[in-house]
Amino acid sequence: MSAVRSLDDLLAEGVSGRRVLVRADLNVPLDKQTGDITDDGRIRAVLPTLGALVEAGAKVVVCSHLGRPKGVPDPQFSLRPVAGRLGELLGAPVHFATDTVGDSARSTVADLADGQVALLENLRFNAGETSKDDAERGAFADQLAAFGDAYVDDAFGAVHRRHASVHDVPARLPHVAGRLVLREVEVLSKLTGDPERPYVVVLGGSKVSDKLAVIEALLPTVDRLLIGGGMCFTFLKAQGLEVGTSLLEKDMVETCGSLLERSGGKIMLPVDVVAADAFAPDATHDTVRVDGIPSHRLGLDIGPETVAGFAAVLSQARTIFWNGPMGVFEMPAFAAGTRGVAEAITKADAFTVVGGGDSAAAVRALGLDESSFGHISTGGGASLEYLEGKSLPGIAALEN
Ligand code: 3PG
Ligand code: MG
Repeated sequence: MSAVRSLDDLLAEGVSGRRVLVRADLNVPLDKQTGDITDDGRIRAVLPTLGALVEAGAKVVVCSHLGRPKGVPDPQFSLRPVAGRLGELLGAPVHFATDTVGDSARSTVADLADGQVALLENLRFNAGETSKDDAERGAFADQLAAFGDAYVDDAFGAVHRRHASVHDVPARLPHVAGRLVLREVEVLSKLTGDPERPYVVVLGGSKVSDKLAVIEALLPTVDRLLIGGGMCFTFLKAQGLEVGTSLLEKDMVETCGSLLERSGGKIMLPVDVVAADAFAPDATHDTVRVDGIPSHRLGLDIGPETVAGFAAVLSQARTIFWNGPMGVFEMPAFAAGTRGVAEAITKADAFTVVGGGDSAAAVRALGLDESSFGHISTGGGASLEYLEGKSLPGIAALEN
């Protein structure tokens, strides 16, 4: 990041009594039944920035998205539960506005005392936030910018989005990078700079189409690329194997085949998988070789021999980046692959980075010690796009 001002620069100017608009990524997973927050990692990650502003006596106005509502209010994506949790973690109530830039937001911001925190309702309840139309985004950014005398971007998970709160508000206010954004970029730049070798990347998750660009970008850089998760089946298919009813992106088979051809043997795929008769926690399942996946079964995890093979490679690595679970870790029957790979990463004598909402949530859901990883990123798409070498709209906006 060239010439980006930091939160410390803003604090040095003095923020007591000033309104500081903070874009955070409080897009946390919620339990589908109860609506409870199932992983508060992203809320905790923004506490250093918010705490510093509170301590300095700023009037802190926090905004965020949650989920993907379609530009209108949708109660299942309300940030209200997040305001509650944020207040608990800060040790002081967070004033919640029931709209983003309407009457509730205006009065909530106006009533803030020095050192108090407000959270606005979900940015994506407004079509202007994600609009592709510059004028529509700009009009929304004007309304948001009216709530701050300065702007802090601490939403690393959203810096790859060309959205009003990320890309257009900083053009309207004095702007700085928050502690989380600075730390994330510092860590990830070590991976794109001159990583200590062997540099091993582990990719999983369901959608191969999301990962093609990063695979393409990483191939020349990495020493080994280990692929598991739902995305591995499109690669296995490209090798001519039958994958039963496993996740498959048919229109990506050719591209995966070409990546395998060009990878110079760097890509390592599973040799065995756990194949189940249904996508269900209690489904009948067995470990099978990848050339013997029954036609009526789907692979929901990598198998033990694959875990052992991946672990052997990881044990030699000096730098590791991991994005995406190896299987459906939310179901105990299909969690062993993700757990095995995560444990292998913690044992390696390496600089280790976990990228992504899902993999970070997996680390915590499996009860692994977060401190045994070098860095756990709050950004999924954002960290991948950073590693791809793309210009990120949220970072570029801070540089201007
Ligand atoms: C994420 O969860 O990846 C970030 O919060 C960004 O969300 P989005 O992919 O819906 O833009
Ligand atoms: Mg995402």
